Amino acid sequence: MVIGLLTITSIPTVAGIALGVREQRNQNSQRADARRMAKFNIDAYCEANSEKAKEVQGKRVVLKDNKVYLDDPHPSLRKEATAYTALAFYIGYPDDDRKRGDGLVTSVSDNPPMLNWIYVDKNSLELKYGNRSQSIEHLVGHWDWTKDETGITLEGEELFAAVEEEPGVWALYCDCYRDGLAGIAQTGKTVVEISLDRSLVEGEKDK
Ligand SMILES: *[C@@H]1O[C@H](CO)[C@@H](O)[C@H](O)[C@H]1NC(C)=O
Repeated sequence: MVIGLLTITSIPTVAGIALGVREQRNQNSQRADARRMAKFNIDAYCEANSEKAKEVQGKRVVLKDNKVYLDDPHPSLRKEATAYTALAFYIGYPDDDRKRGDGLVTSVSDNPPMLNWIYVDKNSLELKYGNRSQSIEHLVGHWDWTKDETGITLEGEELFAAVEEEPGVWALYCDCYRDGLAGIAQTGKTVVEISLDRSLVEGEKDK
């Protein structure tokens, strides 16, 4: 799958995202933008030793029905065969006062090529994806990378967790309140703290 410049410039019509591409930019910031816009898959990293932790380790972020899950990197081995593999990059979130920093964009379909924002539902703490109007009421950024550019951070933290919502079905959450998602854990669901790693996708050349 190729996300070309064509897709980027067509974001405003496709996803309702205003990019501000007319802003004057110097060469350096254009290079920085190119690095921020390098496409990556997202993989769960979990060094804990429990059986459940090992199950989550190495799973890949996938998208289905506006919700973000972890599943096998190989589509043929997936629990959910129709899930779409997230292919993400960073770009400024277009809120009115530009205070939210960078958003995390992901491709959500190849044909037609469409992009959405990944965000944290402020009520349920689930990671979801949607267009600007679906996401703007929620936690949409600032998404960034760790110093070595490997890990994904939200508001400077790596507070992600996988929740086993049904046997073998792992959904992504933000442990934003640092309580191990106590409310969810109380219901008996398994909660595994994870970090999210960027796996840069080679050959994602702009056409
Ligand atoms: C955003 O998505 C919702 C649900 O799919 C849709 O009803 C709405 O028209 C979309 N808004 C824009 C601006 O595309």
